[in-house]
Amino acid sequence: MNILSIETSCDETAVSIIETVGDFPNATYKILGNSLFSQIDIHREYGGVFPAVAKREHARTLVPMLERALQEAKLLKVHATALSQKQTEHLCEILFREPGLADLLTNFFEKNAKPNIDLIAVTSGPGLEPALWVGINFARALSYFWNIPVVPVNHMEGHILSSIFDGAKIQPISFPALGLLISGGHTELVLMKEWASYERVGETLDDAVGEAFDKVARMLGLPYPGGPEIGSRAQRARVKNLPSFIILPRPMLDKPNLNFSFSGLKTAVRYAIGERKLSSDETDALARDFEDSVTEVLLKKTQRAIDKFGVQTLIVGGGVSANTYIRKSFTTHFKKEYPELAIHFPPHHLSTDNSIMIALAGHAQAKHGLTHEIFGNVKANGNLSLSVLE
Ligand code: KG4
Ligand code: ZN
Repeated sequence: MNILSIETSCDETAVSIIETVGDFPNATYKILGNSLFSQIDIHREYGGVFPAVAKREHARTLVPMLERALQEAKLLKVHATALSQKQTEHLCEILFREPGLADLLTNFFEKNAKPNIDLIAVTSGPGLEPALWVGINFARALSYFWNIPVVPVNHMEGHILSSIFDGAKIQPISFPALGLLISGGHTELVLMKEWASYERVGETLDDAVGEAFDKVARMLGLPYPGGPEIGSRAQRARVKNLPSFIILPRPMLDKPNLNFSFSGLKTAVRYAIGERKLSSDETDALARDFEDSVTEVLLKKTQRAIDKFGVQTLIVGGGVSANTYIRKSFTTHFKKEYPELAIHFPPHHLSTDNSIMIALAGHAQAKHGLTHEIFGNVKANGNLSLSVLE
């Protein structure tokens, strides 16, 4: 089966084509085509993601990304096809909020024949709703025109699966498994007793970890996205063994539950900076102090959940899981203290948002019968939860 997957939940526009042989979770996957356009350079001047701009950029780049992915997969068949009046009307109806995209897609359909695709997977949440809708309506238009079913995908399930994907297969895992999802919008601990079963056992009460990285970076005068910037500044402080700029709090560690809070930590950084202009070494040291605090909190709360639920597999996913220090600290600590625990991090190129993970989650969901028939009633849900898969 060939899956076309679409991701537009935040500031990455991504389209992939994956060939699958067999059923989830024992299938073999081959990436036939993969294209991704990152809007980071566009959002940088706003210091963060600007939803209206994200929506506009998705609408502008989805068709070129689709063409590129199909071309790479050798599935692009040029073939002049005239659209009927009814087809044009339907396309405009589905894409009435994205008239520019309707024109680009009409042009694409007029030039190219239906490719060999069996299923369309699209992110339906969580994320920025205006951005999600562009991908969903695009998927519905393709579904209608090509007569192919659509499966809605939870972005966070994609992050979990990309952490256990070795490029060809989903690696076997022992249950119970624990997902630590750390991204720009989420910080949660998710218990998995079996495949496709998710129970949220801990979450942030305010900012997500990635959001805290981005906001602290901004205070330090570092560009968006702040995570990688803080990571490399902190690394410099570690190499130079710079003295602590300040001892920052470890929020929520004194609470016996599995929840997080990063907003106080962010405020502590703001007070530490005050009105001062930090030297380069001071900036590096403060970035390192912040990274230390975040890592310790994440690690200790994760360990608490592992103890509480007798976890056998730890799956860390989401953009912040790209952080070198977090990876190293988790691996070193748990290898020593919990030698029986299997730990998974995503390969670096699948840590941040991509559409390969959406194809994997789409394949998993299709097995559970969540496929909508032709251009079905898929809806965007900015707050879609993993515990209640829709
Ligand atoms: O998963 P993701 O690509 O998008 C969301 O679903 O939110 O995560 C993006 C977040 C951003 O906040 C970014 O600063 C953070 O992941 N991030 C990192 C690193 N790379 C990306 N945070 C810390 N260290 C990194 N190396
Ligand atoms: Zn993400």
